[in-house]
Amino acid sequence: MVEKRLSDCAKIASLAALAGDILALSGVENPQIEAEALMAEALGTSRSGVLMRLREEPGQAVRGRFTGLVERRTAREPLQYILGRQEFSGRIFKVNPAVLVPRPETETLAREGADFLKGLNSPLAADIGTGSGCIAVTLALEAPGSFIYAVDSSGAALKTAAANAEKNGAAGGVEFLKGDLLQPLSGRGLQGRLDLVISNPPYIPTDDMQGLQPEVLYEPKAALDGGPDGLDAIRRLVREAPAYLRPGGRLMFEIGFGQAGAVREMINGEPGLYFEKIILDFAGIERIISAVKR
Ligand SMILES: C[S@@+](CC[C@H](N)C(=O)[O-])C[C@H]1O[C@@H](n2cnc3c(N)ncnc32)[C@H](O)[C@@H]1O
Repeated sequence: MVEKRLSDCAKIASLAALAGDILALSGVENPQIEAEALMAEALGTSRSGVLMRLREEPGQAVRGRFTGLVERRTAREPLQYILGRQEFSGRIFKVNPAVLVPRPETETLAREGADFLKGLNSPLAADIGTGSGCIAVTLALEAPGSFIYAVDSSGAALKTAAANAEKNGAAGGVEFLKGDLLQPLSGRGLQGRLDLVISNPPYIPTDDMQGLQPEVLYEPKAALDGGPDGLDAIRRLVREAPAYLRPGGRLMFEIGFGQAGAVREMINGEPGLYFEKIILDFAGIERIISAVKR
């Protein structure tokens, strides 16, 4: 279907314009920009490279590649999985269906963590649920002298995260550990020593999973589903992190829409922590929580 419609277009300009219309009909939010990104991928160039070649008539190989990419996007596969990459805090991270596509609000979490670590001498941190490794790699590169333990329960995610650490020059500053939340930190002499435990945990209530954008269904369920009220992983982080933090250390994590009240109560009920602050995301939603180890 997509192939038949695109076959009527001779030039890159008309191919990209029609693909934009097709993507718009499929419900893609920025159809024209994405059509150009897919054309850039098919041509092996950048988006500005596409704009310089609009009058060209592409050969069969490029047309075939472009059609395949547009078909995947009309099925609402995330653009980032199709391209295999996503920018996070100014660096490119490899992504695939084993890892969540890093979100802009998580850049705020990573920056907050890095700002806290920057002033410290040889800081130690743990990124729990590292996924693509975006937070761990950002911390390792932006907080000089830091060392980050990056945990995930998914071996496939850890493989991607390790590749991202290597690709971005952070491999020496991050150790990847497989297991359940903070459990892999035990037996390493880290009790009471970490400056920061940071996490973007799964926090979507199970019943809300069906109502998500079609793109999200391509992402790993374990990265998203936070149990009946979305707070399963957060409850455990709040309970288990204090044992690993030194006094004055921080527990920072991302939360979902409407969870701030319950999470503050949880922190108030945890003797090892006190609430420090909530940071809003770009949409004004309470998104990042910081608590201090007593
Ligand atoms: C929301 S994703 C965050 C990924 C990445 N840190 C980011 O911000 O883009 C949550 C990650 O936690 C991992 N995860 C879920 N439950 C876990 C558990 N019990 N123990 C360790 N990792 C877990 C998932 O595999 C997933 O990679």
